[in-house]
Amino acid sequence: MSVLTISNLTIKHREETLVQNIRLSINEGDWLALVGESGSGKSVTSSSIGGLLPRELIISSGSIHLGGVNLSSLKEKEWRTYRGKAISYIFQDYQGAFTPFMSIGAQFDEMLKTHLNDSKQLRKSRALECLNNVNLPAERVYKSYPFQLSGGQLQRAAIAMATILKPKLLIADEPTTALDSITAAHVLQLLAEQQKQTNCAVLFITHDLRHVRKFANKMAVMRKGEIVESGMTTAVLKHPKHAYTKALIAAIPSLKQTKERLVTI
Ligand SMILES: Nc1ncnc2c1ncn2[C@@H]1O[C@H](COP(=O)(O)OP(=O)(O)OP(=O)(O)O)[C@@H](O)[C@H]1O
Ligand SMILES: [Mg+2]
Repeated sequence: MSVLTISNLTIKHREETLVQNIRLSINEGDWLALVGESGSGKSVTSSSIGGLLPRELIISSGSIHLGGVNLSSLKEKEWRTYRGKAISYIFQDYQGAFTPFMSIGAQFDEMLKTHLNDSKQLRKSRALECLNNVNLPAERVYKSYPFQLSGGQLQRAAIAMATILKPKLLIADEPTTALDSITAAHVLQLLAEQQKQTNCAVLFITHDLRHVRKFANKMAVMRKGEIVESGMTTAVLKHPKHAYTKALIAAIPSLKQTKERLVTI
């Protein structure tokens, strides 16, 4: 079943077209990777889904549906119940996921209070369970402030927070770019486990085709504001049709030669 359907989406900044005619569909349980050169419009597209476009960027045509709901018809108040619950985000800047001067536990609590009617005790046990699920020392992390955790730990906590309400769609915009490659692989592995448990759809933006091959069942390639190619990951990587996709793949020789494995030291 389709979770997200984007039809003919065009976004402009004044007279300049930033993304054009985007068509994208993500089903329950899909992990769709969006790749493409810097500035091609990946983040603009993904922020438009959650209603996060800055004021100066305008959706000039097209529609975005989540389930049966046309997201562009939502009022700001309705967005508050959608964000975090139906759609959640994980960003590259994991520090940005948390406010610096509030403990992680307090931030989980705030989020759960906004969306659920659970008792204080139940909220805490839910948060601890969720932190535990992403292999964090739950009690300690719950009491910690963001600056007391490592980047990898913070990104795990961000994944826990993003999945605790079982969203239909999880958008991860370069979630591991700021992490070393081994930590990145572990964090993505965790994201994959969380996805399996919740069966949410994932929109994954990355520059790393090895991660695309390993985690995404579908992919779309963007260039200059347009999707130039999309399909099943195995098919696109094996038989790229567009010259730009071919160039992207050719730029990573190791993609063909090595089968990446998670290294445990
Ligand atoms: N607030 C804004 N005002 C004007 N132009 C913008 C704004 N935000 C983004 N753009 C432009 O939109 C285009 C797409 O940017 P976007 O951030 O989506 O690229 P991207 O594919 O995510 O790149 P990267 O891989 O570097 O993150 C760029 O030309 C960018 O300069
Ligand atoms: Mg971006």
